[in-house]
Amino acid sequence: MNIRDKKVVVTGGAGFIGSHLADVLLNAGNHVTVIDNFSSGSRTNLAHLAENPLVTVIEGDVRDRSLLADALRGVDVVYHLAVQCLRLSFKNPELVHDVNATGTLSVCMESVANSVRRFIYVSSSEVYGSAVSAPMPEEHPLEPTTVYGASKAAGELYALSCFRTYGLQSMVVRPFNTYGPRSHFEGASGEVIPKFVLRMLNDVPPVIFGDGEQTRDFTYVTDTARGIYAASACDELVGQAVNIARGEEVSINRLAALVAQALAKESLRPRHMDARPADVLRHFADTAKARDLAGFSAEIDIQHGVSLYCDWFRSQGYDLKALLAQDAVINWQ
Ligand SMILES: NC(=O)c1ccc[n+]([C@@H]2O[C@H](COP(=O)([O-])OP(=O)(O)OC[C@H]3O[C@@H](n4cnc5c(N)ncnc54)[C@H](O)[C@@H]3O)[C@@H](O)[C@H]2O)c1
Repeated sequence: MNIRDKKVVVTGGAGFIGSHLADVLLNAGNHVTVIDNFSSGSRTNLAHLAENPLVTVIEGDVRDRSLLADALRGVDVVYHLAVQCLRLSFKNPELVHDVNATGTLSVCMESVANSVRRFIYVSSSEVYGSAVSAPMPEEHPLEPTTVYGASKAAGELYALSCFRTYGLQSMVVRPFNTYGPRSHFEGASGEVIPKFVLRMLNDVPPVIFGDGEQTRDFTYVTDTARGIYAASACDELVGQAVNIARGEEVSINRLAALVAQALAKESLRPRHMDARPADVLRHFADTAKARDLAGFSAEIDIQHGVSLYCDWFRSQGYDLKALLAQDAVINWQ
């Protein structure tokens, strides 16, 4: 399906990945309606689009069926990204389930009711749990370690069952850990790379949970957004799941060293703390399906991406001391 000059909806479009996806969709001439309740997203993430006549922002909740019924009328493609985050699932698993699983079913059913032509469920590599073999193809067992991962897996099953039951042209896209401009460094939503950068720029050692040998497949956000878009246009992926990742396994110890190098803070030795509960030990994506079917490959390697992100972070003029003071070291509590 050619996704140009279409009417599209991005739920969670004021968030980190959703706002970059909106940029990609707008560059292809689409009319983009963002639905977001601004619980973790922000208007700042969309500020550069404020004057763009192709953008509509609806403040609302994906669990609100009547809001969805109005917003999805006449829409060609829905990208569903709205989410409550992983670390919140330790404290408030019911809310995470409610938004991520029940909310996804609501968006699916309203997409069916409105004859939406394509439905893209943006899932997560967290559905896999730790790798039992690597690299991990889409057929890897789904053994999520957290309620967050389980809620994302439930969303996948709803999206794909709506394809089989109602003929909704749905697909599941599984991004791996994503980083880059607009990523969260605050509170429960905070991600490891922004936290490392913020601490090191304050001359405070980065904190690593566990021995630091756990790995992730870090993917730069502009690649993730391009990958979601490329997958969504691929007819062969309807009814299927596809990984979106760089395809590069990076340990947290190596990541800390790369951030230190990019910021010239090599003298700051990482501080190790107890491992986080249910932390995934190994993530490394098999990216062949995205390449072969959707023609997508991530271009930015971890060293280059960390350096791009550090440059962006420094250009923002943040009050580094104030941000650090707000931040809890043990960010999963
Ligand atoms: N960031 C990553 O590393 C990563 C990796 C894999 C998958 N993902 C997936 O990508 C998607 C986007 O993640 P992100 O990192 O941009 O998160 P984010 O928190 O920045 O964005 C989520 C957005 O959803 C909004 N939202 C939350 N609850 C809502 C509700 N009930 N109704 C409407 N809007 C609501 C938030 O305000 C926010 O703008 C998620 O589905 C996530 O599972 C993210």
